[in-house]
Amino acid sequence: MRCEKKCLKINGADRTFIYDPGCDSLADVLRRLGLTGVKVGCGTGVCGACSVILDGKVVRSCTRKMAQVDEYAAVTTIEGIGTPNHPHPLQLAFMRLGAIQCGFCTPGFIVSAYRLLEENPDPSREEIRDWFQKHRNVCRCTGYKQIVDAVAAAAAVLRGECTAESLGDGGKPGEYYGNTGEYYGKPLVRPSALAKACGTADYGDDVALKMPAGTLQVVLVQPKAALHAKIKSIDISVAEQMPGVVKVITHTDIGGSNHMMMVGGSARSKALAPSRPLLAVDKIYNYGDVVALVAADTLEHARTAAAAVKIEMEALPAYMNYLDAVRPEAENIHENIPNLYSVQPVLKDDAGVKDVIESSSYAVSGSFYSAREPHLSIEGDTIQAYTDPNGVLTVHCKSQAVFFNMVDIAQCIGVEPGKIRVIQNPTGASFGWSLSAGTFALAAVAAKATDMPVALSMTYEEFMHISGKRTPAYSNARLACDENGKITALEYDLGIDHGAYTELGEGLIIRLSRFLGFPYNIPKVAGLCRVAVTNHAFGTAYRGYGSPQAYTTGESLIDMLAEKAGIDPFEFRYLNIARPGDLNVNSYPYTDYPMEAIMDIMRPLYEKAARQAKAEDTPEKRRGIGLAWGGYNVTGDIDEATVAIELNPDGTLTHFNTWEDLGQGGDIGTLMITLEALKPLGVAPERIRIVQNDSGKCPNSGMAASSRSHFMTGNALKAAADQLITAMRKPDGTFRNHAEMTAEGIPTKYTGKYETTVIDNITRINPNTGIGNPSADYSYALFLAEVEVDTATGKTSVLRYTCVDDVGVIGNIDSVNGQAFGGISHSIGFALSEQYEDPKKDNNMYQCGVPYIKDIPDDITVIHHETARKNGPFGSSGASEAFQSAGHMAVINAIGNACGVRIYDLPATPAKVKAGLDRINAGQKVVPPPYFLGSELYEELEEIKANPV
Ligand code: FES
Ligand code: FES
Repeated sequence: MRCEKKCLKINGADRTFIYDPGCDSLADVLRRLGLTGVKVGCGTGVCGACSVILDGKVVRSCTRKMAQVDEYAAVTTIEGIGTPNHPHPLQLAFMRLGAIQCGFCTPGFIVSAYRLLEENPDPSREEIRDWFQKHRNVCRCTGYKQIVDAVAAAAAVLRGECTAESLGDGGKPGEYYGNTGEYYGKPLVRPSALAKACGTADYGDDVALKMPAGTLQVVLVQPKAALHAKIKSIDISVAEQMPGVVKVITHTDIGGSNHMMMVGGSARSKALAPSRPLLAVDKIYNYGDVVALVAADTLEHARTAAAAVKIEMEALPAYMNYLDAVRPEAENIHENIPNLYSVQPVLKDDAGVKDVIESSSYAVSGSFYSAREPHLSIEGDTIQAYTDPNGVLTVHCKSQAVFFNMVDIAQCIGVEPGKIRVIQNPTGASFGWSLSAGTFALAAVAAKATDMPVALSMTYEEFMHISGKRTPAYSNARLACDENGKITALEYDLGIDHGAYTELGEGLIIRLSRFLGFPYNIPKVAGLCRVAVTNHAFGTAYRGYGSPQAYTTGESLIDMLAEKAGIDPFEFRYLNIARPGDLNVNSYPYTDYPMEAIMDIMRPLYEKAARQAKAEDTPEKRRGIGLAWGGYNVTGDIDEATVAIELNPDGTLTHFNTWEDLGQGGDIGTLMITLEALKPLGVAPERIRIVQNDSGKCPNSGMAASSRSHFMTGNALKAAADQLITAMRKPDGTFRNHAEMTAEGIPTKYTGKYETTVIDNITRINPNTGIGNPSADYSYALFLAEVEVDTATGKTSVLRYTCVDDVGVIGNIDSVNGQAFGGISHSIGFALSEQYEDPKKDNNMYQCGVPYIKDIPDDITVIHHETARKNGPFGSSGASEAFQSAGHMAVINAIGNACGVRIYDLPATPAKVKAGLDRINAGQKVVPPPYFLGSELYEELEEIKANPV
């Protein structure tokens, strides 16, 4: 390696450094100088996370080669804009206006905005949006609206029109509402916001950069050559002799089961063998499979050696979608597991469903497809692992299921669970993919095999291919109603492409079985959800897990049937929503019935939007509006959570839990429930410490999934807090302090546990009938999209968006709004652009259709109808997933309303919409033929009835 010296004026001071002109980027150098507020997400210039100001221009430092940076050039990074002790108004505004969730994009946005405000001190909202579009600043969490709010507010401060202290309702840092004791529902600033705004939060790659000298760098040997292949040989002989290589690790070095198996089975499962090797043994099941790991002294050495591992493969037929995998002639992808490996029926008074549909006044049918949606978190995957002085293998990662991951890693690599510790790093979002411990176990096994600390940081491309995705779904379905528009029956057959591995697949079809038909009153249902393995990316958790695919079918049919019956889609829904006494598709009552109240709130907004669309419609730019009902479960199944609360000697209180924070707000959620639970003690926010997401320090509160965390952790905390308050209370009603407790021998730390089995009527979904009630609660949301379709190109733009929801009593309004805006932005992407289809091409956010700021409307309205939940902590429920359940279908239905094109297969790309317009113009009506999903629906249902499990 040949090096050079250079000097730059960084944040106002000259800094001299040595760099490698052959490969160092400006981001590499700045991060080595300790300026780790420069975040690297995509690494390829498409996300803006690494934005810095170079000689007065915003540049993406990851793609700016150091050799192309002039000596003595001036560079401003986030660290030069403000510090935790002296934050800039932009940083304060981002904190106080809910513009920070995971925070990984935040430094890039603030740096970019800082330059904007230098150029234009009084930008309009559209000018702010244009600026971020031009500079490719992507935020995957917030849906952008609160970011624009924050920039506009900071600009007002800088113009002297208001003070930074007046921004938001959060008051000065450390002062919350004058310590009134009334915090619940208020927009308190999330505890992690200041560090995120100032670039001092250490995410995985920042942790890795600061590890001790000698830490090994681990690189994947991911052949990325075959979709499905037999491995004939793995030759590591050359690689292991290469400079700096400490070890090349293959499946023979694992020492455990070498299998990752998240739970999620069903009594109907034919997947009775594990399907997901950690390191490939004799087969490649999909493009992202990992054959070996190289641990070396430097990243460069590890990458060079990884490229030298020789893998001889023999190609096998690749089944890249469900339809191909379930064809009768398809070979089994996994030995001993049929490709179509499980089913879940839904039978609600199903006798004669077919006849009822065929004899009803109106009936519609269709075949629908939901695309494979990538999560596209701005931060990819990065893990660190080491053995601590007590011999505990410690894994720092993006876990959203700390204890589940601990157990899974332990069995996979052959270590006692008590000898593994999982710690969640500050996480640049996940939205579900980090539920799986597959990559965490790779770093763990590397640390175990080398007995050295290791860092495994993937390129974004490697991450894209190794991570799970939202599963595609194919369906054939029919829906019928009587002459008055009342739904009479629903019939559907649905097949899920679960990709290469079976893990979580059966949990997924159970979810689908609960949301196709939610939240309507449908008297008769005959449905079947099937799941198959294919050779594509494996299916995993994603916000709204399983429900968007169900709503693709359900909310298409609702609009189609309304049209056929000649009833306005709003009125048709109003007629058919469930009301008290009605049962859901699983034959149980809904936990609450806010549907009518939600529609009453939406009605005038819908009518106004309809008038506006009609007035603005032109032949060239067609305007339309669309509705979709959504909602989700709160707690996925029978569930439990444990937390602990401790009174400290200085009078502060510490709350210990594993409410994993992926940016959704595990920290602020914990703060809100703690303030509310400890209200009798009159504790101020700054007196509460939060210790989270460390299996070595915290009790098991479960995973951050199924919108369960607020509900479960909150209820568990209530139990712990009640014990602590009772223990502290003196006979005169005042409270003991720590010294008094200790003197009297009263414990100062209490554990609280909550189990949903305490709720009446909780029961698992029956694998033979689909009857059951496994979740403690539900959230509800009605979406309205207003779109414009360009008839020349087929391009759809979402102009305005409205959501009326009921997620119970709100704990923190900024966080809930953030989940709403973020979920809606993912839904718009899902409707119009997002997919991971060709693994050889779809290797970055841009290619996979991530929405940039101008793809998301600035005009988003979210209205909360709050029904206090009987079983929820402080009346709350779970807030996140309703917002990414059915929102995409409001857009799809709006396209139909605008120009008459019914999109049956997502996403609604310009080409598909244009093709639909061309067909309409040619007087053709093309309806997709039914899919073959493995067998005839009613024969399969009869077979299930004849063979109950
Ligand atoms: Fe540099 Fe994405 S643009 S990290
Ligand atoms: Fe913007 Fe997470 S807060 S990517």
